[in-house]
Amino acid sequence: MKHVAIALLGCGTVGKGVVDLLSRNGQLIEEQLETHISIKRILIRDLPKYEQMDLPDTIALTTDFNDIINDDEIEIVVEVMGSADFAKECIEQCFKRGKSVVSANKDLIADYGIPLLKLSQENNVDFQFEASVAGGIPVIRPMYSSLNSNRIERIIGIMNGTTNYILTNMTERGLSYETALKEAQEKGYAEADPTNDVSGYDAARKIAILATLGFHSAVTFRDVSVEGIEKITHEDIEHASEMGYAVKLLAIAQQNDDGISLNVHPAFIPRSHPLANVGGAYNAVYVRGNCVGDVMFYGQGAGAFPTASAVVSDVMNVILHFNLTVTGKRKYVWHDTKLTDPRSI
Ligand code: NDP
Ligand code: HSE
Repeated sequence: MKHVAIALLGCGTVGKGVVDLLSRNGQLIEEQLETHISIKRILIRDLPKYEQMDLPDTIALTTDFNDIINDDEIEIVVEVMGSADFAKECIEQCFKRGKSVVSANKDLIADYGIPLLKLSQENNVDFQFEASVAGGIPVIRPMYSSLNSNRIERIIGIMNGTTNYILTNMTERGLSYETALKEAQEKGYAEADPTNDVSGYDAARKIAILATLGFHSAVTFRDVSVEGIEKITHEDIEHASEMGYAVKLLAIAQQNDDGISLNVHPAFIPRSHPLANVGGAYNAVYVRGNCVGDVMFYGQGAGAFPTASAVVSDVMNVILHFNLTVTGKRKYVWHDTKLTDPRSI
C-alpha cells in the first residue's frame, strides 16, 4: 500500500475536523486511493493547549514550521490557520520545497490566490482550496471545470454561515443578535475574530474568489460594495416577516456587457424563494451560465466536518493528480477586469 504523509498548519475547528474525518473515513479513503494518508505533524502555537487535545499518538505537534518544511516525507501541507500573511509565507515555502498545499483560507485566496496558483504551477505542485468558499459545498471545482463551457453571467448566494445562523435564529427563535452570534461561535462557524463575518467582508472575499474564477477576471474583495448585518434589528425582521419576506445576507456578482458588479448586502427575499429557506449555517450559491441556465449548490457552509469534507477531498484530489493547475494541459485565461458601479444591478 502506498503511503502519503501530510502535515496540518493549525488545529482549530477545521484542523481537528480533518483529524477526525481521516479517523472516521480512513478505511474508505484508503480503498479508493490504494493509499494510506497519515498526518505526521501539526503546527500549533501553544503546545500545552494542544497536548490536552484528543489527538492520535502518531501525530507530532510542533511550534516550528521548519520541522514541517524540512521533512521530505511530507508531500502535502494542509493550511487551516486563517489570516493571510504568515499562511502565505508558509505556502510559498511549501511550493518551493515541492510540497502541494490544500487551504481553507479565503482571506489568503481572495488576496493572493492568483500569484499562489502561478507559483504552484512554476514549482510543478498542486494548490487546492475548495473549502475556502461555502465550506463543505463543492463550488470552486465546478466553477473551474464542470461549468467552464459556459459564459458565467451571474453568481448569487448566501455564503456566510455565521450571519445566516444569526438571522435565522433571530427570526425563528427570537434570539438577540448577541446570543445568536455567541452560539455561532460556540458551534465553530464564526472566524476567530467574527468581525469579518458580521460586517460582510467574509462573504465579500468569497464572492471575489468565485467571480475571479467564474468571470476569468482578477477581482478582489476591495472591489465589492459591502454592507453587513450589524444594523439589522428585530423590528426589521418582523416587518419583513409580516410582508412575506426573509432577511438574508446576499453576495452577488454580475457580469454585464459593460463590466462586472460585486455586492454584499442584507436583502428581503420572498418567502417562496429557495434562498429564503436556507437556514442555520447552511449556504446556497446560484450560478447562471449562458447555456446551462441556473445551477444551485446548497449545503453546510461552515463547521468542522462539512469543511473537513472539502479539505480531505482536496488532499485526495492532489494524490489522484486530479488537479487543474499543474498538468500544463489547461491554461486559465484571464481578462482585464472592468468594474461597473457596484450598485448598478
Ligand atoms: P480556528 O481559529 O478554530 O483554528 C485556527 C488554528 O490555527 C488554531 O489551532 C490556531 O492556534 C492555529 N494558528 C493560528 N495562527 C497560527 C500560527 N501563526 N502558527 C501556528 N498555529 C496557528 O479556525 P478554523 O479552524 O475555524 O478556521 C481555519 C481556516 O479555515 C480559516 O482560514 C477559516 O476561514 C477557514 N474556514 C473555516 C470554516 C469553519 O467553519 N470554521 C469553514 C471554511 C473555512 P491557536 O489555538 O493558538 O489560536
Ligand atoms: N466563518 C465562516 C462562515 C466559515 O461563517 O461562513 C466558513 O467560511
